[in-house]
Amino acid sequence: MKFFLKEKLPVIESFHPHFSHAFGEMVDVGGKRFRPLLLLSVVHCSRPLLVENALHVALGLEMMHTYSLIHDDLPCMDNAALRRGHPTLHVSYDETTAVLVGDALNTHAFYLLANAPLSAEIKIKLVSILSSDAGIYGMVLGQAIDCFFEDKHLNVDELTFLHLHKTAKLIAASLLMGAVICELDKATQEALYQFGLKLGLLFQVQDDIIDATLTSEEAGKPTQNDGHKNSFVNLLGLKGAKEEKHKLLRELDVELGKLDAALSKRLKSIVDEYFKG
Ligand code: IPE
Ligand code: IPE
Ligand code: MG
Ligand code: MG
Ligand code: MG
Repeated sequence: MKFFLKEKLPVIESFHPHFSHAFGEMVDVGGKRFRPLLLLSVVHCSRPLLVENALHVALGLEMMHTYSLIHDDLPCMDNAALRRGHPTLHVSYDETTAVLVGDALNTHAFYLLANAPLSAEIKIKLVSILSSDAGIYGMVLGQAIDCFFEDKHLNVDELTFLHLHKTAKLIAASLLMGAVICELDKATQEALYQFGLKLGLLFQVQDDIIDATLTSEEAGKPTQNDGHKNSFVNLLGLKGAKEEKHKLLRELDVELGKLDAALSKRLKSIVDEYFKG
């Protein structure tokens, strides 16, 4: 997927010595690109001729996610110096650059959606989904809770609410956006969104297990960094978090049964690849 990202990154013309480079740096370095993979997998299975059009949206989605990571790493949030095996922007440059690159990636995501080669009706739906699931109804609210409740114990329902918002909604949105691009029926859209919420919870459980069990070199980001957090590992223990992971994997299999065979097979292979072990 890397091929499409670099060539579509804008060059920002100005006399600022590093802003244009800093803008694209974290997107270009790249992580797993899990969210665009989900979106493009839905499109590829349902309307393969639309994949090229959907790339613009996939890049916007990845920009939104990347902005969330750049801000997540700031000293006022998780204070992390490494991301995607690369120094974080506030370390390479300064906090001002990191904050503004995050702001710019967030707004540019909507620029890409608005200018994608898709119908106006579809684009309005995409803007609505992304702004909802990445914003105050989703990721931003989750991040606010995550940071505010450091060192304050949440119960399991509150923990689930936190992670559904912080992580799961953007992952569910990725699948839903693919379904909207393909104009899949409402029942399929809803089934994909519900599958995505569970997949997103699983994703955060795994992320919390990564923090507890991998080295920073293996993870490409600081680990053992969740000591103050309401992580699944801190609340359930490592064994409990692993059990939660396997419970969610079983539940995902049930959700997959509600989707058409080709899509179900493709999503199953993604789940198997990302959550083995
Ligand atoms: C990390 O996301 C933040 C979470 C939501 C858990 P990813 O694990 O998708 O990070 P990248 O994109 O691969 O770097
Ligand atoms: C961040 O969660 C989720 C976002 C919305 C960015 P984490 O703080 O657990 O992500 P990592 O572990 O730093 O990637
Ligand atoms: Mg965080
Ligand atoms: Mg973090
Ligand atoms: Mg984490």
